[in-house]
Amino acid sequence: MTPEKSVLAYINHLIVSNFSYFLDEIDGYLYYFGGTLGTLTLTSVAASIAYYLVTRPIPEKPLVPLENQSPLLEGPEQIHVSKFYKESKNGKFVSYITENVRTLYQTFREGAYASNNGPCLGWRETLTSPYQWINYDEALLRAKNFGSGMLALGARPKQLIGIYSQNRPEWILYEQACYSFSLVVVPLYDTLGPDACAFIIRQTEMSIIIVEDDAKASMLLEKAPRSLKIIVSIKPIRQTTLERARSRGVQIFSFIDVEKLGAKGNHPEVPPTSEDLCTVCYTSGTTGNPKGVMLTHGNVVAGVCAVILQMGDHRIRAGDVMISFLPLAHMFERCCENGIYYVGGCVGFYSGDIKELTNDLKMLKPTVMPAVPRLLNRVYDKIQNDISASSLKRGLFNMALKAKEKEIARGVLRRNGCWDKLVFKKVHQAFGGNLRLMVVGSAPLAGNVLTFMRCALGCLVLEGYGQTECTGAITLTVQGDHVPNHVGPPVSCNAVKLVDVPEMEYFANQNTGEVCVRGSNVFHGYYKDAEKTAEAIDTEGWHHTGDVGMWLPNGTLRIIDRRKHIFKLSQGEYIVPEKIENIYTLSQYVNQVYVYGESLKSCIIAVVVPDVDVLKQWATENNVRGTLSVLCNNKNVKELIMNDMLNWGKQSGLKSFEQVKDIYMHPDPFSVQNGLLTPTFKAKRPQLKSYFKPQLEDMYKHLD
Ligand SMILES: *[C@@H]1O[C@H](CO)[C@@H](O)[C@H](O)[C@H]1NC(C)=O
Repeated sequence: MTPEKSVLAYINHLIVSNFSYFLDEIDGYLYYFGGTLGTLTLTSVAASIAYYLVTRPIPEKPLVPLENQSPLLEGPEQIHVSKFYKESKNGKFVSYITENVRTLYQTFREGAYASNNGPCLGWRETLTSPYQWINYDEALLRAKNFGSGMLALGARPKQLIGIYSQNRPEWILYEQACYSFSLVVVPLYDTLGPDACAFIIRQTEMSIIIVEDDAKASMLLEKAPRSLKIIVSIKPIRQTTLERARSRGVQIFSFIDVEKLGAKGNHPEVPPTSEDLCTVCYTSGTTGNPKGVMLTHGNVVAGVCAVILQMGDHRIRAGDVMISFLPLAHMFERCCENGIYYVGGCVGFYSGDIKELTNDLKMLKPTVMPAVPRLLNRVYDKIQNDISASSLKRGLFNMALKAKEKEIARGVLRRNGCWDKLVFKKVHQAFGGNLRLMVVGSAPLAGNVLTFMRCALGCLVLEGYGQTECTGAITLTVQGDHVPNHVGPPVSCNAVKLVDVPEMEYFANQNTGEVCVRGSNVFHGYYKDAEKTAEAIDTEGWHHTGDVGMWLPNGTLRIIDRRKHIFKLSQGEYIVPEKIENIYTLSQYVNQVYVYGESLKSCIIAVVVPDVDVLKQWATENNVRGTLSVLCNNKNVKELIMNDMLNWGKQSGLKSFEQVKDIYMHPDPFSVQNGLLTPTFKAKRPQLKSYFKPQLEDMYKHLD
């Protein structure tokens, strides 16, 4: 089995492309910081220490014993569960917090009540204007109207409806409109690319898609499958696009018009049950077509509730303000926002340009912020860079960091100490100045960066690990645990166990292995793909994540590796093709190589793209004439290259069954353009397999 999404791949999409302006701002702050330091004297340090002793704050108590954060279930397998739910010990999972709040339709209404119709969705018209807000009741009414409008356009409950837009209030109006009529949310996003988007529309047979603007509408029209009948655009559409749509039999409406249509029709709501599908969230792996992860309302509510419980004393609540800038097309952001709506907080959307994030943060002053490592790494790097110039700054900064670290280790969270005022103030002001909770997800975060953020922000910074297939979080760090380099214990909606990965020498009885998850947050399969579903979820309901983890003695998980693509040969030996490919590419003659094998065969073979320059030079030296294609068909050339590969294999310790028995030489490199590599230059194995099918079959024919 080969689940493709890793903690890395999972929310790699979440990583936002350009934070440089944000960092320039921080740079500016650091000049200020430098100025502060310049006037610093020893007396002021002494005064500060005295001040600290006077204002010493009371430490918080951890909610679970930090040396034992996740108990084991009884039984032969080492199954870790949560301490945040009493029934965990009996193999049960949290599904909801309140019996009658079990869908995202109900959670939103709960928030409307909890906030007493407080502000809900906020946005800015321009980069100089303040945030303006609509309250919960208005959001609910507009969502209901929009949903009723979609029904007037022909949508029926349980139908899948697409959205292709950046984060903005209309995204949430659309989302709640869907829930009001049991429609299913299907997000599309840029990094999928036009072909994958077309694939998704075809697979889901979607007829209605909401788009942000003309550009996105045009992109969909380019490759639109026949099923697409209606595009609803949030922003105005150009006349030429309208005409193109008409010629393709697609009707275009504006978002407002659909709301008006719905208000007139006033269709009664059709709320979903917790068993109903909430969303089909497509993830693009390294291999094949994107896969549609099916999540029910019950899944998402379970995921959101378990995370809220694990936030402990710092849990989100009415009055919280969250900044929305990570893509809503992914479950990390969806879960964060739906959590905020559940408790009656509000969400302010960024202006749509990540370069202006600091500007938005300063205006919004959020209390809660989801973040990704890439953003925090850049902040950290800039600050390191700035202090590296002066040994005084560096010394002071490190002193501040040490002192704060000690404070945090004692359970003190604050940003009014002397070090905060002297050194860290400008960092947390870059985040708006009001932050009290940050949740980091999507990719592994370096320990020193996490510790720095905890010190500089002086608020609770949690790190989680999750997958779309598990709705959101699988594990999350707990309050009071200041030690980095792990992702915490399981959240209370799931249990986690590790299983052996013998070919990579990870064994569960040594507390390492592939992370497997069972619980109320685990998805209901891939849309219209029973085969991939069966590969991902075993017969006992464990989802195999493909990530390799390690249990630390105190019951927290660390992600240490990614399960590689593997298969067994007919004699039962494991093959890890990537490992073999890495060795063969050491040969000077080899530019690219694709190692292939099947479980019905007893040996492996390969497609080799030779290095043009090296091969041409060899040809000249040995008086062999011909183009690259001719050389590729030359028996002597093939023997030369294969022998060199086998030599490298032998030197690197490959066993004889791990060595190729034949190769096919191919003149054209695998590339992103010919569809054989991913945009990050990883081999697309299924595509390579079908592309070279005749050659692979031919090689095996001669070997059998
Ligand atoms: C958890 O265990 C690790 C490894 O033994 C240790 O370094 C760390 O300090 C422990 N964490 C806490 C919060 O005690």
